[in-house]
Amino acid sequence: MTVGSSDMNNDVANFYNGSGTVRVAGKIRDRWGGNLHNGYWHDDNDDAPPEVATDRLTDLMIELLAPQPGQKVLDIGCGIGKPAARLLQAHPVRLVGITISESQVDQARTGAAEAGLSDRAAFEYADAMRMPFPDDSFDAAWALESLFHVPDRAQVLAETARVLRPNSRLAIADFVLRTPISDAGMRAVDRICETFGVHSFSSLDDYTAQLSSHGFKDLDVRDISDNVARTGTLLADAWESVRDQLVENGNSAEVDAMIEATREFTSTPEFGYVLISATLS
Ligand SMILES: C[S@@+](CC[C@H](N)C(=O)[O-])C[C@H]1O[C@@H](n2cnc3c(N)ncnc32)[C@H](O)[C@@H]1O
Repeated sequence: MTVGSSDMNNDVANFYNGSGTVRVAGKIRDRWGGNLHNGYWHDDNDDAPPEVATDRLTDLMIELLAPQPGQKVLDIGCGIGKPAARLLQAHPVRLVGITISESQVDQARTGAAEAGLSDRAAFEYADAMRMPFPDDSFDAAWALESLFHVPDRAQVLAETARVLRPNSRLAIADFVLRTPISDAGMRAVDRICETFGVHSFSSLDDYTAQLSSHGFKDLDVRDISDNVARTGTLLADAWESVRDQLVENGNSAEVDAMIEATREFTSTPEFGYVLISATLS
């Protein structure tokens, strides 16, 4: 089962490039260490701050990808390049990151230059639906919380399979839907899609079937829903704490919608979160 929106506002680039509220709200995430993804906490007693917990999620993805020295890695939906930098610092590989946001390309390039990684990192404006790379260009790929944005997940998996060489590794971090989905769950899906430029959520069965049909084998799925669950509440609390500042820069209805949608999301039991790794045939 895959549910979401094709008719709602799905201007992802505008969401990430955006001005006003979204941009200011995004700065809170930047303060979380520049990772635009969930944190990972070992258990309820783990009091790691968000910047540590979000790096931990990156580290889990690095483990799953396990790139070999000299390999060329594709980062699908690279954000501002923080996960890419961590991967490059951990492994002697090269990386190309793509994002649908021009401002993220600039930030990722600046960040790589400041970290002394520019010789191994390239960041480009590109749509994952139509990747500007020849067949067999990469040895590994990851998509860290980007596939819920794309208009057609299967199309991106087909593109990923096309640009990867045989036997390449793929690692994905994404939300999945637990089915059956209640009416309240559907309302939460619609609201998240409208508010955060999300296109769709898939059930795990749909996801793994799509991966298999595009030639990915040896699928390994790790359900880390409980470990990431704290993220939404922390984010909503952080936004709430600077609500007045956010409202100054945007409009109050937009700010409140972001906070409410995030809280609703975290309390909707149908949303799970998985790390998936696979190898291309
Ligand atoms: C939630 S952010 C995650 C960023 C990064 N992976 C991280 O973990 O920090 C989603 C990313 O997906 C990118 N994205 C969304 N749709 C895309 C598309 N069609 N093609 C390329 N990138 C896309 C966004 O521009 C953004 O960089």
